[in-house]
Amino acid sequence: MKIVRSITQWREIFGGLQGKSVGFVPTMGYLHQGHISLVERSKAENQITAVSIFVNPTQFNNQEDLQRYPVNVQDDTLQLQDLGVDYLLLPDYGELYCDDYRYKVSENQYSLDLCGATRPGHFDGVLTVVLKLLNITKATRAYFGQKDWQQFQLVRGMASAFFLDTEIVGCPTVREDSGLALSSRNKLLTPEHKKIAPQLHEIISGKNSLAEKWKMLEAAGFQVDYLTKKEGRIFVAAFLGKVRLIDNVGV
Ligand code: PAF
Repeated sequence: MKIVRSITQWREIFGGLQGKSVGFVPTMGYLHQGHISLVERSKAENQITAVSIFVNPTQFNNQEDLQRYPVNVQDDTLQLQDLGVDYLLLPDYGELYCDDYRYKVSENQYSLDLCGATRPGHFDGVLTVVLKLLNITKATRAYFGQKDWQQFQLVRGMASAFFLDTEIVGCPTVREDSGLALSSRNKLLTPEHKKIAPQLHEIISGKNSLAEKWKMLEAAGFQVDYLTKKEGRIFVAAFLGKVRLIDNVGV
């Protein structure tokens, strides 16, 4: 696996790939089985697989959340090497945001709903960094987990709105046996909260009304940010202490 830190270097490498299909998995690191499933899918569908690790500051609306975000690039690198990833991109802020975020991509409807309602600017940051990464990698396909359903839909919408050549592929949420959706943030849960966390999926998947589900979540110890049903899915965001978990299920 080749580690590429500079965008110029990646452009040179890409120039030499001679029309091979490139699968790209953008991540913020602290990899888990959910990321691994995206990498495996990319490997199955493309000749070359590239993964990026970049904790994108512009998508954090809360500095404390950014500081707390778990990082373990060394372990991540070993895992990606074992998986047979071809390229690991480790861009730095200065090069990726050579404009210091003067330019950004905004979507002005769906991005203001769900997570966007309480995380102002979050999806501007996500869409901007994804557009930068897709323009740099020129990937044939890019892979996103459906746990972040809203992110996946917005990225897909952006790719269509800006006529990007990359196909945006959504992949199923990977869960622990307990039902808890895998997330890098799970690492931040206290042992006590880790025991409660699987109830998020259990409760939203049940047959009760939304109002009952809301009460059940609160009774279990969650502070609910939103719980809603749209387009045949139930979406939830809820806090356990300072850790915000999200999930969604088809109904
Ligand atoms: O889902 C994530 O990890 C991030 O939002 C992404 C897509 C890598 C952009 O920073």
